[in-house]
Amino acid sequence: MSAHPPVLSSLTAAEAEARLSELGALLHACVAAGASVNFVWPFTQAEAELFFARKVLPAIAAGTRTLWIAEIDGRVVGTVQLDVDTPPNQPHRAEVTKLLVHPEARRRGIARALMAALEDRAAALERSLITLDTRTGDFAEPLYASLGYVAIGTIPDYCIDPARTRLDATTIMYKTIRAPSAGAASL
Ligand SMILES: CC(C)(COP(=O)(O)OP(=O)(O)OC[C@H]1O[C@@H](n2cnc3c(N)ncnc32)[C@H](O)[C@@H]1OP(=O)(O)O)[C@@H](O)C(=O)NCCC(=O)NCCS
Repeated sequence: MSAHPPVLSSLTAAEAEARLSELGALLHACVAAGASVNFVWPFTQAEAELFFARKVLPAIAAGTRTLWIAEIDGRVVGTVQLDVDTPPNQPHRAEVTKLLVHPEARRRGIARALMAALEDRAAALERSLITLDTRTGDFAEPLYASLGYVAIGTIPDYCIDPARTRLDATTIMYKTIRAPSAGAASL
């Protein structure tokens, strides 16, 4: 893979639909490499594409989710989503979901760059509290910690690992990216 820096962009629903097979290929490659991101093996690329088509595209179209891709030489090598579909009492919170970097493109700062774009958007949307969960012990944990996310604890036996061999714990993390707006702060 070339040494060029990744190009990041957020996609409209139509743009994401046009890149469904690339998004599906990325998700499929990550799960095949052992990523614990809701899916278990066997998992086909068609199922991966269906996930984006059914769960992500409608949310982008509804304005409750932003999806970024990172490209190197025109190839999608990373993605992340910001989910702002929160209840009425959490208008200041947003969730990180499906941070994925292709196994061949890892440890080059792509996840860090995607998270920076996500946090900029969260701040622009006045979403000051960002929450996420990630499998305990995964590489994502030191990544999030290095970005200032605080681990508040783990839930044991939270999910089945992708190979269906055991139950894994998950770590719940959060980051406050800036002070809540005056209205929320006065509550
Ligand atoms: C976690 C993941 C997104 C990291 O992507 P990446 O582009 O390789 O991460 P970056 O290069 O931006 O790394 C940023 C930091 O994360 C940590 N990190 C990432 N990979 C690591 C590894 N293999 N070992 C130790 N630390 C690691 C380091 O602190 C790293 O900083 P450094 O390189 O300056 O030491 C990627 O490994 C992945 O897609 N994993 C599978 C899916 C997944 O678990 N996603 C998270 C779901 S919540």
